[in-house]
Amino acid sequence: MAAGTVDRADDPSGEPLADPARRARLQALLLAWYHRTARDLPWRGDADPWAVLVSEAMLQQTQVARVVPIFASFMARWPTAPALAAAPAGEVVAAWQGLGYNRRALRLHRAATVITSEHGGTVPEDLGVLQRLPGVGAYTARAVAAFAHGLAVAPVDTNVARVLARLHGRALSRAAAQERADALVPDRDPGAWGQALMELGARVCTARTPRCDECPVAPMCAWRGQGPDPAASSAHRSRPQARFEGSDRQVRGRLVQALRERPVPGPELSAAAGEPDAERVRRLADALVAEGMAEWDADALRLPR
Ligand code: ADE
Repeated sequence: MAAGTVDRADDPSGEPLADPARRARLQALLLAWYHRTARDLPWRGDADPWAVLVSEAMLQQTQVARVVPIFASFMARWPTAPALAAAPAGEVVAAWQGLGYNRRALRLHRAATVITSEHGGTVPEDLGVLQRLPGVGAYTARAVAAFAHGLAVAPVDTNVARVLARLHGRALSRAAAQERADALVPDRDPGAWGQALMELGARVCTARTPRCDECPVAPMCAWRGQGPDPAASSAHRSRPQARFEGSDRQVRGRLVQALRERPVPGPELSAAAGEPDAERVRRLADALVAEGMAEWDADALRLPR
């Protein structure tokens, strides 16, 4: 190391990873660990942009273990965007069973429709174009661009934001986290890099009990588990979920689950939703219809055809 070069993670400039040599070391350490230990997940190492888009839609709020089997059957059934676009929305909602947050199924179906009608059935590469697809925000657009198209951008989700805040030793706004994430992407295989950051956040640099003694990049980390956690006050930290028991979300979920089995006549909706307040159930049923999640067929509620 050259004289005068700061060899400490807690660089007083506040930008401990601005130095190219330190960045290169961080990249080498993390990528070596990733290639040695990463979980073999079915959407990894697969450059099919449609598979990446489907997996990221499923993974947004659902755990990996739950996603794996559903992803496999979904892709076997709808291996391309045009295949999904040709299916009735209701079948996609039915196949979403077990993942929760059913609106994601509708949005993915709508994205497939746009990909088919406006992009010749091919998932776009351009970040701006990707972000105009239904349900695709900054995170998912970057995930598709990096994992499938090899663009030098970094998707920043809660896990990655936590890793970045700790590495830098300070809380980061959304914009600051994204800027630093993009600056860290190596030229070679940006997809593996993005996956590696996520893997570290999911398995080692976890929210509550980080395993700093097992961390492959601990020597480069400004925090290293000492003192207040910089990720705790960062913009991406996950917020406590609103209470689910008794919520509209719970009743809606029960309604959609009942519709997966059969159309439900209006008078039976209360029982199907496990909610005695028939007016409330009717309001939620109408909301499902308004957003395209269900339709009225005579007096029965059903998944859309
Ligand atoms: N969570 C979100 N995206 C993921 C991915 N590609 N691999 C593992 N976990 C994830």
